[in-house]
Amino acid sequence: MSDTTNAARLLVVEDDAGVRTTVVTFLELEGYQVDAVSSTREAIRHLNETAYPIVISDIYLDEKTGLDVLDAARAKDPTCAVILMTARGTMETVMAATRGGAFDYIAKPFELDVLLTTVRRAEASRAGVVDEDESEIDDLPESEMIGSSAQMVAIYKIVSRVAPTDATVLIEGETGTGKELIARMIHSNSPRVPQPFVAVDCASVAPALLESELFGAMRGAYTGADRDRMGVFEAANHGTVFLDEIGDIELNFQLKMLRFLQEREIRPLGSPRSRPVDVRVIAATNRDLQTMVDEGKFREDLWFRVNVVRIRVPPLRERRGDVPLLAHFFVRKYNARYSQNARLTDSALRAMDDYVWPGNVRQIQHMMERLTILAPDGRIDQKAIQEAIRATEPHEHGGETLADAEMDQIRRVLSATGGNKSRAARILGIERKTLYRKLERVGE
Ligand SMILES: Nc1ncnc2c1ncn2[C@@H]1O[C@H](COP(=O)(O)OP(=O)(O)OP(=O)(O)O)[C@@H](O)[C@H]1O
Ligand SMILES: [Mg+2]
Repeated sequence: MSDTTNAARLLVVEDDAGVRTTVVTFLELEGYQVDAVSSTREAIRHLNETAYPIVISDIYLDEKTGLDVLDAARAKDPTCAVILMTARGTMETVMAATRGGAFDYIAKPFELDVLLTTVRRAEASRAGVVDEDESEIDDLPESEMIGSSAQMVAIYKIVSRVAPTDATVLIEGETGTGKELIARMIHSNSPRVPQPFVAVDCASVAPALLESELFGAMRGAYTGADRDRMGVFEAANHGTVFLDEIGDIELNFQLKMLRFLQEREIRPLGSPRSRPVDVRVIAATNRDLQTMVDEGKFREDLWFRVNVVRIRVPPLRERRGDVPLLAHFFVRKYNARYSQNARLTDSALRAMDDYVWPGNVRQIQHMMERLTILAPDGRIDQKAIQEAIRATEPHEHGGETLADAEMDQIRRVLSATGGNKSRAARILGIERKTLYRKLERVGE
């Protein structure tokens, strides 16, 4: 579709010769003039000699990175649109790219069409450039979000753009996909970071108590209210409130939520007055709110209010490339925590590949925590993974399935947790009561 004459001159910075040639050939066929270089040094020299309205750069190049190319390009020409690409996208790199004024960020491997669309958007936006928002976020805390799949990179991009604002965000995804973690990332990358982040699980608070939990209650407002009670919205004033499982709010309370989101005022139960609060709201659900709206179970007006920015977190089975990254990450983390030296074998990684991970990231996390402690000789192999997967099947879970021979496992986990039985039980995947019974039986 090269119907227009594309005069824009592009600079491509890519150290992989194969990718570089593909990108250059493709863009030239689309009518662009392209200069290509393979190092940051050449890139910076080109930028000094020639004006490029658009620069496309890989991130990991040599001793310097695409972020340096970004800085150089924007220093020369603040309107230059820099598109960064990488196969190793992380929250930090996306945040740094956004902060440095990158136009966009593409996860590798990408379809050439995606690149073309991005380049066209860059051209279009330059045609009407005013002045980019130069808002800055200093000293980002270290990110703990792992995953460089295109889906996760897309999420990092949304987070990096939405975090500095006060926009209400709706995060949708299956259990264990990282919804709360994303909410925390948004808060910790926002100007509200010195203020509280308060999470409320709307599903676990009894409906009758949710109102006072959120809005507070005056002394005597209901039987048993022997003192004033501050609600979550007030406790989180100037910070962020995370409304988890918002799909579980009863219909009649949804109207009150709606009013709150519109007015940003609370009236504690039993109080004659309302008062303003300043909170940023992030909501999450593992239900399909749109369907609930269609079925009349969730107010459409509330849905519109909450759904200002929508983040859908895909289940792990739809981003399998992240599985090994997460597995290694958690093994490293728990090695450090429990002073272990476990490592995953290649066959273990292959065994994880075929599995659907119904519990998503949380399931990998717990499995790796347990295997890190239990792996004989520190080797987590295919057999260990297969057994761990089998152990999570509902029927073999909990109860009396641990054989006496497994007392050895129990002891190892207990020693790793410093004798903390609740934690040990969780790692072992058994009820705490069961653990106590086992210990009693052997007189420990
Ligand atoms: N991409 C990720 N990188 C690292 N850790 C992650 C990632 N996603 C999730 N986790 C971890 O997995 C666990 C579950 O994540 P989280 O609690 O955010 O899930 P959730 O979507 O809120 O689940 P639920 O719907 O069950 O509440 C947490 O310990 C979280 O830190
Ligand atoms: Mg959650």
